[in-house]
Amino acid sequence: MAKAKTAYVCAECGADHNKWQGQCGECGAWNTLSEVVVEPAGMAKAGIKNVGYSGRADVAAITPLRQVSQVAEVRSSTGIGELDRVLGGGLVEGSVVLVGGDPGIGKSTLLLQAVAAMAARVPALYVTGEESLAQVAGRAQRLGLPLDGLDALAETGVEKILAQLARTRHRLIVADSIQTLWSEQLTAAPGSVSQVRESAARLVRYAKETGTSVFLVGHVTKEGGIAGPRVLEHMVDAVLYFEGEVGSRFRVLRAFKNRFGAVNELGVFAMTDKGLKEVPNPSAIFLSGAAGPTPGSAVMVTREGSRPLLVEVQALVDQSPLSNPRRVTLGLEQNRLAMLLAVLHRHGGVGVFDQDVFVNVVGGIRVQETAADLPVLLAVLSSLRDRPLAEKTVAFGEVGLSGEIRPVPNGEERLKEAATHGFKRAIVPKANAPKKGRVGEMEVIGVERLVEALQLL
Ligand code: TYD
Ligand code: MG
Repeated sequence: MAKAKTAYVCAECGADHNKWQGQCGECGAWNTLSEVVVEPAGMAKAGIKNVGYSGRADVAAITPLRQVSQVAEVRSSTGIGELDRVLGGGLVEGSVVLVGGDPGIGKSTLLLQAVAAMAARVPALYVTGEESLAQVAGRAQRLGLPLDGLDALAETGVEKILAQLARTRHRLIVADSIQTLWSEQLTAAPGSVSQVRESAARLVRYAKETGTSVFLVGHVTKEGGIAGPRVLEHMVDAVLYFEGEVGSRFRVLRAFKNRFGAVNELGVFAMTDKGLKEVPNPSAIFLSGAAGPTPGSAVMVTREGSRPLLVEVQALVDQSPLSNPRRVTLGLEQNRLAMLLAVLHRHGGVGVFDQDVFVNVVGGIRVQETAADLPVLLAVLSSLRDRPLAEKTVAFGEVGLSGEIRPVPNGEERLKEAATHGFKRAIVPKANAPKKGRVGEMEVIGVERLVEALQLL
């Protein structure tokens, strides 16, 4: 195939150059140029027809929204309940889903299990660019997966893959991974930003034109973005991230973006020797399981997605040898910790400026909601004083900049979950506490200000 016309476009200012250079001549930014295919004008016009505009190409038709006929999205189950949940109730036909995560976390395993479960109903193709066909087949056999209707293709050239697809008409494709795919139209190396973006764009276009569902596997960089372009996240319909420590058994799949469902829905899996197993009732798996109360540990109830989860937050506060003590978080936002420590000093009278503060959420799960504020501060204080919280205590609540404890959504449901798991005492925002001060056997203490919560310790 002839090379398409390409240009090098600056990611900062959008200026195009006809050859690569380290610095953009327009805005002066470094290392921002990447190669993109410049579509000939004729193709652009053809594209306009494809998306359903009518009439002359230079006059775009306006349609009143109420006249647009609605197409009900067709969903089908992936055969894995937790994956369906994260997708918003099954895989939408013709949608493109990006599954990201660290190497070794289980992306290939999950998708192989999902396509094998779906292949009996939908002809499916597993495109592998990382592992050989023998490796994929070996894994499928070891996992005891049904292989009827499941084909595999070891190929990384996106043109060749699409040419093959045009002949075979598979309805479900897994591309593992998008970083290995490359287009003949670009001179850049596979894995580079331009190649990843172009390959993904081709597959997205194919999916939309034919109604084929596509899973793209993407590796995550150290910074947490899917390697290569963040633009990938804009092109696809849903972005799911795998979280969890590679060493731990549990994995969490989180919807980061979903055009067909709620975001921040969680799916929980356990990695076993027979692949990923669903954990449909994950409530208490993110507790450390320590025998008794330990200093620096607090249990919270988070409610991300549609289920409450009990999660343990651990803090270590230690004399710092540095003039600029460290604030390190795992599974929480670092700036939030700095803010909370400032509130603790200003409104709780407890200063930690000569101490290193480390905060970790057990099990490698990421907690993004502000309900973690209060338990984080309780854990920090508990570690600083080297005194454990009272046994069987849970806490949740947002801490405001003026030292007030703000209510969080779904308080009642969180308290119920804690009571079910045998907790005896809950420290929560006043507005979340029931009037009678108990939920089942559990005593509920409502606090309005940070000082009140600290006095309870
Ligand atoms: P994999 O799906 O290859 O990860 P990714 O595609 O995200 O890089 O998962 C690999 C890890 O999972 C590997 O370290 C071994 C582990 N694993 C199991 O523990 N049990 C299994 O049945 C399988 C298939 C993998
Ligand atoms: Mg893999």
